[in-house]
Amino acid sequence: MCGIVGYAGPQQALPLLMDGLKRLEYRGYDSAGVAIQHDGVLEIRRAEGKLANLAAVVAKSPAAGATGIGHTRWATHGRPNEQNAHPHVDCGGVTAVIHNGIIENFEALKKPLVDKGHRFMSETDTEVVVHLIEDELKSGKSLEDAALAVVPTLEGAAALAFVSAKDPGKIVAARISNAGGVIVGHGEGENYLASDIPALLEHTRTVSYVEPGEFAVITAGGVRFLDRAGTQLEKAKTTITWDTVSAAKSGYKHFMLKEIHEQPRVISDTLLGRVDRASGRVVFDADLKLTDDAVRALDRITLLGCGTAGYAALVGKYLIERLARIPCDVEIPSEYRYRDPVVTKGQLVISLTQSGETVDTLAAMEEGKKRGARLLTFVNVMGSQASRMADDVIYLHAGPEISVASTKAYSTMLVDLYLFAIFLGQRRGTLDPTAGGKLLAEVFHLPTLVDAVLREEPKIKALAYRHHQAKDFLYLGRGVNYPTALEGAHKLKELSYSHAEGTAAGEMKHGINALIDESLPVVAIVLQDSTYKKMLSNIQEVRARAGAVIAVANDDDEEIAQNASEVIRVPKTNELLSPALAVVPLHLFAYHVADRRGNDVDQPRNLAKAVTVE
Ligand code: F6R
Repeated sequence: MCGIVGYAGPQQALPLLMDGLKRLEYRGYDSAGVAIQHDGVLEIRRAEGKLANLAAVVAKSPAAGATGIGHTRWATHGRPNEQNAHPHVDCGGVTAVIHNGIIENFEALKKPLVDKGHRFMSETDTEVVVHLIEDELKSGKSLEDAALAVVPTLEGAAALAFVSAKDPGKIVAARISNAGGVIVGHGEGENYLASDIPALLEHTRTVSYVEPGEFAVITAGGVRFLDRAGTQLEKAKTTITWDTVSAAKSGYKHFMLKEIHEQPRVISDTLLGRVDRASGRVVFDADLKLTDDAVRALDRITLLGCGTAGYAALVGKYLIERLARIPCDVEIPSEYRYRDPVVTKGQLVISLTQSGETVDTLAAMEEGKKRGARLLTFVNVMGSQASRMADDVIYLHAGPEISVASTKAYSTMLVDLYLFAIFLGQRRGTLDPTAGGKLLAEVFHLPTLVDAVLREEPKIKALAYRHHQAKDFLYLGRGVNYPTALEGAHKLKELSYSHAEGTAAGEMKHGINALIDESLPVVAIVLQDSTYKKMLSNIQEVRARAGAVIAVANDDDEEIAQNASEVIRVPKTNELLSPALAVVPLHLFAYHVADRRGNDVDQPRNLAKAVTVE
């Protein structure tokens, strides 16, 4: 997600803001900007792309002033370009806002503003906020009173900061929900604001955290904290002891571990705004242009994805066939692009790609397009090549994924696939409304359930340490968790450099049984669902051949202990949703095996984050 910085004090703000933004570069971004206020004037400088572009803009046209805010944008609404870069200003150019998160109800808020004559300059959800503030400031309110009036009307997730030439020398910051951090850094006669600790460490180690529903009013002389009602709060000050590197990882040893732990939050972000409250129907934003008629006319879907994205695609096949009764094929892009695929009228090709830049996936999309398919992409990076090529786009909203191994992007792919399969089922009438409503409610419960799995980490770590020396692993699953077995094996291979094989458990008798002996750890996903009995007999076959079974099983499964040597517990949910839970311990297991071996977890050997060559 986006990065936020702010400064109020006696120094020139510009170099301090640029330095703070530089320290947040590791988060990934697609544009940047600053707003600096002095002598009743607000100066805005913005640039698309890297900070070097913004540096060039401010070198040509410096902005003086001792109060300001800065932002690196990770696009969610509106393309990554200069016009959509933050800060956004009101009609008079006197007040500016920066924002991290998603404002779910921006369209409803925008309409009356447009009717009143407000001029919007960007495609973002954010800009609406500054026009609302503009109206409040007209009645002579202070900036904090305007923010207190406006912020509670926003739905969704947001960390926000404002400066205004109408209320000089002041930054007002606010936070709704858990999106993004809002951290105040306390200095001597100067104070700072940041979304992340690394932007502050150069200046101060004394910080206060702004919690959801709270506001901070920051000036050179001091900081006041307010609740929603405007009542002053007493806030504790915390001393940060991390070094800069561990601060970038929020104290986690690796980005991968941080990203695994971000999953409850990013899944919530992905779900934001995706259900129409009145009708209970799944809705996507304007980047999905498939009409209801087009949905009803679909007769076949091809899903494409490389590596981890390909396993998400396979889960997608199970979901779409079950809920929307559309036949689906899953294709490896590097195969699809070179064979002679049959594309029929009424076929949809869906690509899944975190980066949106994987060359094989792009080439396979091209091939599908050439043959007349409509293209939909599930992608994390807005403005990426995949998002530009596709007819329709569904964003993952996972935020930047820095670790080469994909974890939170995989989970959000699954969540978007759940929503999309329900969307199709609702429009094609293949999903019973009551069952659909219940399933959706369970999708919305996933962040809590993922959080419960994450709390099992100490046990998973101990398990990984017991097995870290094994040279081979076997992963077994059936049904919708067959892809989970493939993904578990894939992650272990790429991180630990051990051999791991994932297979459909029903295939064991056809060859794989020959591998089983006491030295082969077998990780089996044995959940209490339609495949439970079959999985139990599969692991009994493993036990009969002296194999050690590590079972991923449900919380209340008492029978499993007699059939497995070790058990990792996950909460029970709808069978179709269980891959989003079962994969979490497998990612943690792969992480801890690799870390125990001393491998470079975030950058495994021979692998790259975006595979832009064949
Ligand atoms: C696995 C992993 C790779 C990617 C694959 C596709 O952890 O990171 O298997 O999933 O290279 O990348 P995207 O999703 O960017 O197309």
